[in-house]
Formats: sequence, C-alpha cells, structure tokens
Amino acid sequence: MNIKYLDLTKITQSFEPELSHRIQSVIRSGWFLLGEETRVFEKSFANYCGVRHCIGTGNGLDALKIILMAYKQIYQWRDNDEVIVPAHTFIASAESIVQSGLRPVFCDISPDDYLLNAKNLELLITPNTRAVICVHLYGKLCDVDAIIDIARRHHLKVIEDAAQAHGAKNVSGQRAGSMGDAAAFSFYPAKNIGALGDAGAIVTNDEELALTARQIGNYGQSKKYYHLRQGVNSRMDEIQAAVLSLKLDRLDKDNRTRQQIAVYYFEGINNPHVMLPYKGVFTSDSVYHVFPVFCEQRDLLQCYLADAGIETIIHYPVLPNKQEAFKAYNQQHFPVAEKISVQELSIPLHPQLNNAEIQYIVNTINQFKC
Ligand SMILES: Cc1ncc(COP(=O)(O)O)c(C=O)c1O
Repeated sequence: MNIKYLDLTKITQSFEPELSHRIQSVIRSGWFLLGEETRVFEKSFANYCGVRHCIGTGNGLDALKIILMAYKQIYQWRDNDEVIVPAHTFIASAESIVQSGLRPVFCDISPDDYLLNAKNLELLITPNTRAVICVHLYGKLCDVDAIIDIARRHHLKVIEDAAQAHGAKNVSGQRAGSMGDAAAFSFYPAKNIGALGDAGAIVTNDEELALTARQIGNYGQSKKYYHLRQGVNSRMDEIQAAVLSLKLDRLDKDNRTRQQIAVYYFEGINNPHVMLPYKGVFTSDSVYHVFPVFCEQRDLLQCYLADAGIETIIHYPVLPNKQEAFKAYNQQHFPVAEKISVQELSIPLHPQLNNAEIQYIVNTINQFKC
C-alpha cells in the first residue's frame, strides 16, 4: 500500500467534469475579479454559515488580518494593543496580529481538546486587551460560549479562526463562523473545502465591520479610485469563487464521510502506545480536518508508518512562540502546547480514502511496538 496523507489529484478529479466547465465559463466571461461568481459564492457561504455577510479574500491569513485592521480602524485601537491567541495553532493566527500592528499574547491550550483554554484566557486579560482569536484547530469547535462569556465581561471582540473547521456545528446547530463577532476562513487547497490555489473569507453579522473589511481588502476604496482608508489588495478571484461554489454543495456530505472515518478510527485503533484524540471519544462538533493521534515515541511511529507506506504529517512541530520569527517570545513556556507539539501525529483522513486503506491504517497502527 501507498497511502498519501492527502491526495489532491483524486479530490480534484472527483469534481470533474463540472469543475472544468465552471472554470471554462469564467475564462469565456473575460471577468476575473469582483464579479458575479464571487458575489454568488459570498452569498451562499454566508447562508451556509448562518451569518449576514461574507467577504472573499485572497487567503485565510489576510481574512484574519483584515478583520483586525478593520476593528483597529473602527474602534481606534492603538498600536501594540493586545490580542490573545492560542499557543498551539498554525502560525498565521499569530502573524495576523503582528501584521495589523497589534501584539499577540499566547495562551496555553486545554489538554482535553488542544484548544484555547477559557480559564487561562481570563488570567491573561489586561487593560490593553482588545480581542481574542479562538482557533477551531483540527476541525473541532472551541468552547465558544465560555470564551464569549469572558470576552463580553471584558469588552473584547471574539474572532473565530475557522480555517480548519468549515461546516463544524455545535449542539445548537450553529456553525463555525457564526458564533463570535467575526470569523476568518481559509480555502487553501488541502482544507475541507479547498480552492485551486489560495482563497479565504471573512464572515460576520456586523454590518460596519463587513463594509470596512470589504474596503480594506480592496485598497481601502469606497468607490473606484476613491480611497477612504488604508487598505491592502486581497480579493477572492472569480475562478476560485466558481470552484468553491461547486465544492460548497458537497461540503456537508464530505464532512459526514470524514466523521464516519473518524468513528472507524476511534473504534478500531487500540494500541496502548498510541493515544486517540478527545480522550478516545468521537465528538460530532469536529469535521476532522485533521485526525491527530499522540505518541511518546512520535518520530518512531512516523517512521514506522512511512515504512509501511502511510504518509503522516505533524501539526505542528514548532509552536509559533518558539519560531525564529517570534524571537521575543522564545523564552515563554506553555506546557500543554509543548507536550502536544512533541507527541502529535496526523494520520490520513479524507473523503477519498477507501475501506481497504482505512482498515490497513488501523491494522498497521495496532501492530506498532515501541
Ligand atoms: C488555523 C489556521 N489559521 C489560518 C490559516 C491561514 O490560511 P491561509 O493559508 O489561507 O493563509 C490556516 C491555514 O492553513 C490555518 O490552518
């Protein structure tokens, strides 16, 4: 067997021939930016998430950055005002804060779900704190209610980083992106709904934020060649919007397939050296963008699986605050995040995996010996 972590060729092929038809139709239209395809996708994605506004962006990092830039302009936040972000996340969550002239404050995660820990969050709030970015990492929703409760008491904005959680629902049926004040999505090709290149989106119910963010993403323009504010160039293009509209129709079905594979892993993997996520219990508020397992001999497990033809990835080997790019934070310690970063290994999980491959992954992991 040779099982890729993610097979983008297979995934892309599964949308043919309609995918090529939609792309051809944009090419024929001669209209590549700020057009009908983007308008249609923004409307559908806002409806899907259960919010009033969606603004397409060039990527997920820009979506986060533009939200922060917009709040900074609307509420006159000062340079270096603080934004709390989990210590364990993809680096973009933290980079967006620095790039909008604000200061990241890292917060250790919960050992139960590897997500922002609400108790730790409250301890980090100072008079300079303006917002919290809660990251639905691996596709699992944060405890947004607890985070909102704290944020409201301290007048903080809650920004969901939903780059890994398209379609995830809480028990009340609310989807990722609809719970906080604003949310950022990434449509990087490997996401549960991926573009054929980079794309992202902001969703919110806040009209002023939506208008400001749309202007910032388009050079700060209020109308053509009239620039009301400082902005950037970060727009979803028409080809990506056409691709994403097609893929959105299948997102729920694909997420259900991911959840079924996750159930199979929860029921099938039973090696004492390999810990399952979420205390070994399937959780339906995850769309399993990533299926993490944990092992004290993680590197050995990764080599063993590679030898057996199973590709895996580590999310993430170096925490943001330990990166060269965040030198000023290198000495800070986050015990839970640090433990996760040395033990985590992501095993293949995507809708195109077949039963034989899933069974092979389970059997191979069960035969692993330290
Ligand atoms: C949690 C998280 N936040 C933000 C991003 C940034 O998205 P993009 O790669 O589209 O800039 C990603 C992308 O991988 C991510 O996983």
